[in-house]
Amino acid sequence: MGFIDIGAGFSLFNYQLYFFIFAPILHPGMTFLEEIKRRRTFAIIAHPDAGKTTLTEKLLLFGGAIQTAGAVKSNKIKKATTSDFMEIEKQRGISVSTSVMAFDYRNYKVNILDTPGHEDFAEDTYRTLSAVDSVIMVIDCVKGVEPQTRKLLEVCRMRNTPVIVFINKMDREGQNPFDLLDEIEKELKIKVRPLTWPIGIGKSFKGVYNLTAKSLNLFQGDSKTTVEETLTINDINDKQIDQRVGVDFAAQLREDVDLIDGVYDTLNTQKYLDGQISPVFFGSAVNNFGIHELLDCFVEIAPGPKERDTDKGLVKPDDKKFSGFIFKIHANLDPKHRDRIAFLRICSGTFERNKYYHHVRDNKELRFSNPTAFMAQQKSVIDEAYPGDVIGLYDAGNFKIGDTLTEGNDFQFKGIPSFSPELFRYVNNMDPMKTKQLQKGLEQLTDEGVAQLFTRKVDGRKVIGTVGALQFEVIQHRLKAEYNASASFDQVSLYKALWISCDDRKKMEAFMQDRSAHIALDKENRPVFLAESAWLLQMAQEKFPEIQFHLKSEF
Ligand code: G4P
Repeated sequence: MGFIDIGAGFSLFNYQLYFFIFAPILHPGMTFLEEIKRRRTFAIIAHPDAGKTTLTEKLLLFGGAIQTAGAVKSNKIKKATTSDFMEIEKQRGISVSTSVMAFDYRNYKVNILDTPGHEDFAEDTYRTLSAVDSVIMVIDCVKGVEPQTRKLLEVCRMRNTPVIVFINKMDREGQNPFDLLDEIEKELKIKVRPLTWPIGIGKSFKGVYNLTAKSLNLFQGDSKTTVEETLTINDINDKQIDQRVGVDFAAQLREDVDLIDGVYDTLNTQKYLDGQISPVFFGSAVNNFGIHELLDCFVEIAPGPKERDTDKGLVKPDDKKFSGFIFKIHANLDPKHRDRIAFLRICSGTFERNKYYHHVRDNKELRFSNPTAFMAQQKSVIDEAYPGDVIGLYDAGNFKIGDTLTEGNDFQFKGIPSFSPELFRYVNNMDPMKTKQLQKGLEQLTDEGVAQLFTRKVDGRKVIGTVGALQFEVIQHRLKAEYNASASFDQVSLYKALWISCDDRKKMEAFMQDRSAHIALDKENRPVFLAESAWLLQMAQEKFPEIQFHLKSEF
């Protein structure tokens, strides 16, 4: 068992956005339990362009974490073609700087985990969602439910993640709110409960009625200057409403409010926490409207750090012994420095700088002299961190996605599976003098989760699997730039890669023998069936009913 000291002597990342300062992230005088209770770790999910970046920025503004709009850069590859490497590099750089954004709001410590906007990076998003305790889902009121919204919500449902819905762009001519909520309930198969209700929409958007506080938030101004005014009213029949929004809109509001209680269940907090009902807010992120109610409700009802499942049972956040897992690894942008940053979600106990922790997969003890926290755009070396926090650990290649760190215990966190890729390519080595470099590059890039690597049993050929075509470009480019290796790819027509299992070892062997041309091993040496078509998969399932085929590596 080796002891490794990570951090000393490492080049620190040279991202200009960061300022290095040594600072504790604790509140003086708070107990361990209070620190846990005040943490809110979540992600904002949305179909690209719905307003995720804008909402993130407005939340940071409200939290006092940034002072000016425009400070948070969109992390999407907006107009990039697949060969626009500058854009890919930019994307990588930006996604590091916005990977975690933390700020204090009221007495809460809010940790926002960013998810990539581009759908080719969907796996990254799935993994990030394993590290949050809840999500805010942004929906564009004009476009309604979009494909990415659907996919992301499926992942949330798999884990029963609590979801708050923010309906954005109410200053645009969108759909009728009842129709929109109906679409959300049907398409996403979730129940919703509005907590605010819009008055008008688009050009005639007047504001929202707060159904809980029974107050009116008025929207005034143009696209450049927006004034949000809160009006306290006696009840829904208060004449002030007519005066401020006009008789017709006031009448419509009263009619809508009458309907709401009949149409939607009341908000039961436990049901929200179990992922069964989602509170809904309406607003306009770019106009700074409706964000306050959203944030206030979020910190109050969103869950703090939850217990987490491991292969040896549940780990509670208030367990005294530290534990956490790596859900994201980011390579240094500077090819001269091969160090990486691994993002660790703390699940229990207190993480301390310079203390040795147990790397379960490698059975190694590691310690970290420069663990970093991300307060808005300030990166600071921290001495301690608590459950719910996400910290960055400098890494010279020790970590893989999904790795567990503990204070000596031997368990592995579950819930960070690999999913069957959608696209597959054979890798060809274009420079036989650089075979080692290519191997190392492929190993490390797949450790980072850029793609999955399978090795065919019959001939040892390497197959790379990804979710999107963009990854192949990224891999080829990074192999050259960072490892000086040249690779080309050959198309492989595969339908899915499925992990296989069977209680009967002999039957498993018989299957692998029979289908040897279609068996590969993943990086953990787990057997995988490479199905060329849905039909061939079905044939295999019918002929070998004892074999179980899994679309994810955890089953
Ligand atoms: P994303 O991260 O979900 O992809 O979306 P992002 O926040 O980048 O927003 C996408 C576009 O929608 C941006 O415009 C943004 O300004 C606009 N937007 C966000 N919230 C609102 C809103 O409440 N109302 C209206 N009308 N627009 C909104 P863009 O033209 O693509 O970019 P830019 O103008 O910010 O450069």
